[in-house]
Amino acid sequence: MKVSVLGAAGGIGQPLALLLKNAMPAGSELALYDVNPMVPGVAADLSHIPTPVKVTGHGADQLEAAMKDCDIVIIPAGVPRKPGMSRDDLFNVNAGIVKTLVETGAKVCPNACYGIITNPVNSTVAIAAEVLKNAGVYDKRKLFGITTLDIIRSNTFVAELKGLDPTELNIPVIGGHSGNTILPLLSQIGIEFTQEEVEALTPRIQNAGTEVVEAKAGGGSATLSMADAGARFALTLLKALGGEESVACTYVEVEDQPTRFLSLPVRLGKNGVEEILPAGTLSAYEQKLFDEMLPTLESNIAKGVEFANS
Ligand code: NAD
Ligand code: LMR
Repeated sequence: MKVSVLGAAGGIGQPLALLLKNAMPAGSELALYDVNPMVPGVAADLSHIPTPVKVTGHGADQLEAAMKDCDIVIIPAGVPRKPGMSRDDLFNVNAGIVKTLVETGAKVCPNACYGIITNPVNSTVAIAAEVLKNAGVYDKRKLFGITTLDIIRSNTFVAELKGLDPTELNIPVIGGHSGNTILPLLSQIGIEFTQEEVEALTPRIQNAGTEVVEAKAGGGSATLSMADAGARFALTLLKALGGEESVACTYVEVEDQPTRFLSLPVRLGKNGVEEILPAGTLSAYEQKLFDEMLPTLESNIAKGVEFANS
C-alpha cells in the first residue's frame, strides 16, 4: 500500500505523517509532498523512526512522483483560518490548491482513494469529484471528506459531561463540516440527555473548530486533534481496502438525499464505500437542524462544482 500526504510539512501534515509512520502496515510506503522546501527534512526525520514503513519526501516539482500509484491520498494542503474567518473564507486560496493536486492524481494514480482535509471541506470535496469526473476517472466510492474530527470531539465532550470513557463512544455526526452543517446525532447513542444538555452540546460541537482558532489567536486552527482524526480515518480506510470492513461517518457523494454530498455512516471495504447507511431516526430537534443546514450545504457544493468547471 502507498499513502501520500499532500501538505506534509504543515501543522496537520507533520503529526499526521508521524502517526502514519508508526501505524501503517509493514512494507507500505508513506510519500510526503509539500511546496515548503522543508519537506525532504520532514521525511528524513521520520525515516529514522524504526518502523517497517518506507518514507519518501517530495518537493514542489515532485508531485507526480509523490502521488504515482498511490492507494490513498490524504490532502491537508492549504491555508487555515484566523479568528473572525469562516471556513468558506478559505475557498479562494484552497480551491485552486485542491484542484491542482487532484488533477495530477487523476493522471498518475487514477484508482486512488482521496481523503480531503483542506477546508472548506463541503466545497473542496465537490471540486475533487468534478476534477476526477472531467478526467474520466471518478469513482464516488473512493472520495471522502474527512469529518472524523467532529466525531472525536463529540465523543470527548459527551464523555466529559457524563463521566464516561471517550474511547467507548462512537457518536454519529452527519451533514457537512462547517458550523451549522455539523450535526451530532446525540439521540442515537443510548445515553439520556436533557433537552438543555443537547442544546448546549450541539453548538459546542459545531463551534469546536472556532474554539481552537480563537485560542490559537492567529496561529492557525486545529492541527494535533486533526492529525489524530486524519490518521484514524486513513488507517481505517487502509484496513478496509485490505478487506477488514468497518463503519465510519464521512462526507461522500450520496443518492436519494437532499444534497449531492453528505456525511453519513458508511460501510468501508475493499472498494472504498461499499454501502451508505441510513442516518436512522432523528429527534425533532435534530431534524430541524438537518433541514436548516441544507441551503448552506447545497450552496457550498454548487460553489465547488462551479469552480472546478470554470
Ligand atoms: P498549515 O499552514 O500549517 O499547513 C498547510 C501546508 O500546506 C503547508 O505546509 C503548506 O506549505 C502546504 N501547502 C500549501 N499549498 C500547497 C500546495 N499547493 N501543495 C502542497 N502543499 C501545499 O495548515 P494546517 O493547519 O495544516 O491546515 C491545513 C488545512 O486543513 C486548512 O485548510 C485547514 O482549514 C484544514 N483543516 C481541516 C480540518 C477538518 O476537520 N477537515 C481540521 C483542521 C484543519
Ligand atoms: C476544525 O474543525 O477544527 C477545522 O475545520 C479547522 C477550522 O477552521 O475550524
